[in-house]
This record gives sequence, structure tokens and C-alpha cells, in this order.
Amino acid sequence: MKAVVVAQYVPIDQIELKQVPSPRMEAGQLRIRVEAAGIGFVDGLKIEGRYQTRDPLPFIPGTEFAGVVLEAPGAPGGYQPGMHVMGMTRSGALAEEIVVNPDALHPLPDGVTAEVAASFRANYLTALYALSARATIVAGEQLLVLGAAGGTGTAAVQIGRLLGARVIAAASTPEKREFAQAHGADAVIDYTQAGWRDTLKELTGGHGADVIFDPVGGEISVQAFRSIAWHGRHLVVGFAGGAIPALPFNLPLLKGGALLGVDLAQIPTREPEVQKRLMSQLMGWLAEGKLKPAVGRVFALDDFREAFRTMQRRGALGKMVVRISK
Ligand SMILES: NC(=O)c1ccc[n+]([C@@H]2O[C@H](COP(=O)([O-])OP(=O)(O)OC[C@H]3O[C@@H](n4cnc5c(N)ncnc54)[C@H](OP(=O)(O)O)[C@@H]3O)[C@@H](O)[C@H]2O)c1
Repeated sequence: MKAVVVAQYVPIDQIELKQVPSPRMEAGQLRIRVEAAGIGFVDGLKIEGRYQTRDPLPFIPGTEFAGVVLEAPGAPGGYQPGMHVMGMTRSGALAEEIVVNPDALHPLPDGVTAEVAASFRANYLTALYALSARATIVAGEQLLVLGAAGGTGTAAVQIGRLLGARVIAAASTPEKREFAQAHGADAVIDYTQAGWRDTLKELTGGHGADVIFDPVGGEISVQAFRSIAWHGRHLVVGFAGGAIPALPFNLPLLKGGALLGVDLAQIPTREPEVQKRLMSQLMGWLAEGKLKPAVGRVFALDDFREAFRTMQRRGALGKMVVRISK
């Protein structure tokens, strides 16, 4: 089968598409023909060896996918050959086939395409976990989303709206701000402008942001915290901008505010019941059509490097997806 293979931690341009043997199956596992794989910022960091944890070499990157069950001996989890599924694993999705345990899968709801399904789980679970389980956002609160046209940002905009928040989307270009508005933002801010905190103050009638969803990091994070409302919650999601900010400790004191960490990777082991509840909520919204995951661009497998480069160049709108087979 064809697969993207990381033989060494090198820049994405040096990573190759190779012919490799299909992965072996163990008892209780399923073989899936991958139709589409969603690319996240973390996948790029993992390939280049810049993530907190390193996968042992060689490995096939890619964690999110959608496809069709090819083999399911004993029908583990009730899955049968021919069923359309979506899933998430530690690695291996950027390949024509993947072998997984049934708990990595969800049946694909009717009418949801493989591209949409492959864009769903990581970003939307991160956003719902952050906004609901961590920040306990309530209807009517003001939500500021940084990097609002990116993968996690777009998910936070859409889920913030579904939870009844008033969503203010911060993004760096007019195209990105339009994208955020098209996905449900009530108002937008250009946070590359020096006076953006004054705009936020005006937009919130002097109140500030009750909740800040922050996948960007750097100086923007500290500035955003300075604009947090009394009892506000600042969600630490990621550092796409590169720098890990240092927050002066007097700010949470003065604002009565909280800094809340969000780590999708730890939810399955630390809070399995929460994950189950949130996934069931997300799958319900997806099946009912209340949530329409934002697919930014779809790339052919041969062009997989461009999907990563687009994110690294700060050019991604929504989620980047690689189409692997029909
Ligand atoms: N904590 C978790 O569980 C979790 C889960 C998923 C992802 N993450 C992390 O969240 C971060 C964002 O992931 P994502 O999938 O949303 O990424 P993304 O789609 O690339 O979006 C990131 C956004 O950050 C902004 N940005 C500012 N400086 C940037 C730079 N130098 N390069 C790239 N983007 C820059 C961009 O918006 P503007 O151009 O508008 O500024 C961009 O849209 C990553 O650090 C990722 O590792 C964490």
C-alpha cells in the first residue's frame, strides 16, 4: 500500500510517500481502507520531531481518518465489512490502509462525507471539552476565539455558538475573518492591529471576554488575558504562533480570572466518561446537521506536503484534509 513514511525527524519537504506492506492485524482488530485523513498542526510537529512526545521511527503520521471497513473478523464492536466509519488513532492515517481497535471508531452518520468526517474529531472534541468541561461556558457569555479561522479556532466558533455564547473571532487577515463569520462568529477583530483590545472592549460593552479560547500563544495570549472579564476563564489550547507565553501572576489576581489547561491527548485515560459524553453530544450534532465541520482544503495524497506547508505558513482556513482513495 502507499503511505507517508517518517524514517527520520526531518522537515516536511524531505518526507516521502512510499510503497510499504499493509499493516498486520491482531485478534479483535479491524482493517480500514482510508478514504480521507485530516491534518492537524500537531501532526506537522510530530513529523519534524518538535512535539512533546516522539513516535518511535519509522512511523506513518496522521491521526484522524474516515473510510470503509475492509476486514472485521468476528465483527469487533459490531463493525462489518463495507461499513463507513470515522476514527482517530495515535498514528498511521496517512496510508491507504490502517488497522485499529474498534474503540477508535465511530460509524459515519448518513450524508456525512469522508472529508468532513476526517475533519471532525480532534478539533471539535478539543473545542467542546475546552468550552464545556473546562470553562463551563453558559449561554449569553462573551467568547473570544484567537486564531479563529484555523482548525481548532473554527471548531470553537461553531461550538461556542451552539452553546449559546456570543462569539468574537480574532484572526489575522480579512479572508480569515470572513471565514470565521461564515462559520457563525457574531463579530470579528483583527488582532494584528495595535488597538485590538480597545475594539474588544467596545464589542463587549466594556465587559471583556468571559472565556478566551487560545490556540495561538505568544504575546497575544498575555494581551488577551489583560482583556478578560471578572471571573473570566482563559483556555490554554496551543502555541501555533511558536512562543509559550509567560503570564504575570498579578493578572489572574486582579481579574479574578483563571488559566485552564486543555489536553485532548489525556482525556481518554484521565476522563473517559467525559470523553464518552462529549463524543456522543458531538456525534448527535453531526448527525442532526447542527454542526458542519469546516473543511478548508482537500489535497491529493501525492500533494500531502502542501497540506502541512499551508498550516506552517499560517495559510490554513478550517481543517486541511488529504484525500487518499475514493
Ligand atoms: N490542547 C489540545 O488538546 C490541542 C488539540 C488540537 C490542537 N492543539 C494545538 O492548537 C494549536 C492550533 O492548532 P490548529 O489545528 O488550530 O492549527 P491551525 O489550523 O494552523 O490554526 C492556528 C492558527 O494560529 C494562528 N497563528 C498565529 N501565528 C501562527 C504561526 N506562526 N503559524 C501558524 N499559525 C499561526 C493562525 O491564525 P491567524 O493567522 O489568524 O493568527 C492560525 O489560523 C497548535 O499548537 C496545536 O498543537 C492543541
